[in-house]
Amino acid sequence: MEKSAIIGKSIEPVGKITISCDKSQRILVCGKTGTGKSYTLGVLIEELSNFGEDIVLAVDPQGIFWTMAEPNQVTEATDKLQEYNLLPKGFRVNLLVPGDPLERYGSSDIISELARRGLFVQGLRLNPSDLSPEMWCDLFNLDINELQGIMLFKAVRLCKKKLKNNFLIPNIADQIIKLDGLDKTKEALLRKLEMAEDWQIFEEHQYREIWEILQPNAINILDLSVIAQGRYGLRNLVVAVLANFIFEKRTIARRREELGLATDMRKVWLFIDEAHNFCPSGKSTLSKEIIIRWAKEGRQPGLSLVVASQQPSAIDSEVLTQCGIRIIHRITSKEDYKAVNALSQDFLDDSLVSRIKNLTGPGQTIMIDDEKETAVQVLVRLRQSNHGGGSA
Ligand SMILES: Nc1ncnc2c1ncn2[C@@H]1O[C@H](COP(=O)(O)OP(=O)(O)O)[C@@H](O)[C@H]1O
Ligand SMILES: [Mg+2]
Repeated sequence: MEKSAIIGKSIEPVGKITISCDKSQRILVCGKTGTGKSYTLGVLIEELSNFGEDIVLAVDPQGIFWTMAEPNQVTEATDKLQEYNLLPKGFRVNLLVPGDPLERYGSSDIISELARRGLFVQGLRLNPSDLSPEMWCDLFNLDINELQGIMLFKAVRLCKKKLKNNFLIPNIADQIIKLDGLDKTKEALLRKLEMAEDWQIFEEHQYREIWEILQPNAINILDLSVIAQGRYGLRNLVVAVLANFIFEKRTIARRREELGLATDMRKVWLFIDEAHNFCPSGKSTLSKEIIIRWAKEGRQPGLSLVVASQQPSAIDSEVLTQCGIRIIHRITSKEDYKAVNALSQDFLDDSLVSRIKNLTGPGQTIMIDDEKETAVQVLVRLRQSNHGGGSA
């Protein structure tokens, strides 16, 4: 059976609007703040979750998606969902918290309350060996042609050579101590590594396969709101390591599938809310390179990408131009309008594009599908689960 995610309905012509989930997709969701982007992401996540086949991983910088574990309590939800043959419901949520959840959330009450509401809360630690030597240097903003950069690069490379996957930050420190070089350089690097330990984001005991923490039968939500969007780009680091790891694993899995060998690594849909922070135009971040690769080369290994942003012009154009499906909520900034319009194809009717400016309420969108060569005004359906946006 064909897997089509029902996003909502069009008024003219009347009908349900779907996105094919049988193949890998790249989707842009954009529009001003408060126009319903995160909500729309949630609708697509629900649809995929209802199919229950692919792994869904949502990068959640605002910490709003955990509420998907609860049913939509809006009064008219039951009625409005009925036309889609759906009911309000909570979904299984696997909440991934970088570091120690207890420390990050600051109280055990929060964790037990989340558990009581049916969420599975898991700490996520990065394996130091899942970062390439270049990534280690980038993390500390070190040039690999300068003393500290050269030394750190060498140390991580040696660890990888000698210990394969099985090394932790103290092993990198040991290598640094053993290398030839100035004491001053070594001390500066050791201080940086100590600082990295203090972030409590790295695995401290043993190598752990990231794949093990992703649950195929739940919505995997990466709560990045617990990490400050600070100088070291730790949020980007977590996304980069996860995305790199999944990319590699799925590349192997794809080869196995083609050879008729068994694999338990399902295809993956990666959702990134506030994506301009992870793959920005005009500047580099730890996660940008892998997101671009995912967008450009991810079809073959079965990797889909959905990016949402209030500022499409701030997303790297290499990602933007890959997005063959664009769900556009109201936009008023000239620059963003231009960025979206630049992606338009010949089949677009000018008047429809100009209607983007005139969209009104939340959930009102123009959806453009390059492959189907369609552009229609779509009202995104109500959510089955509770939407966690909005301010206190
Ligand atoms: N399709 C929709 N139907 C009904 N209400 C919606 C819809 N989309 C968004 N909303 C409402 O609009 C508000 C803003 O949505 P949100 O997704 O948080 O905006 P954004 O991510 O664009 O800033 C939310 O309170 C939400 O309940
Ligand atoms: Mg949002």
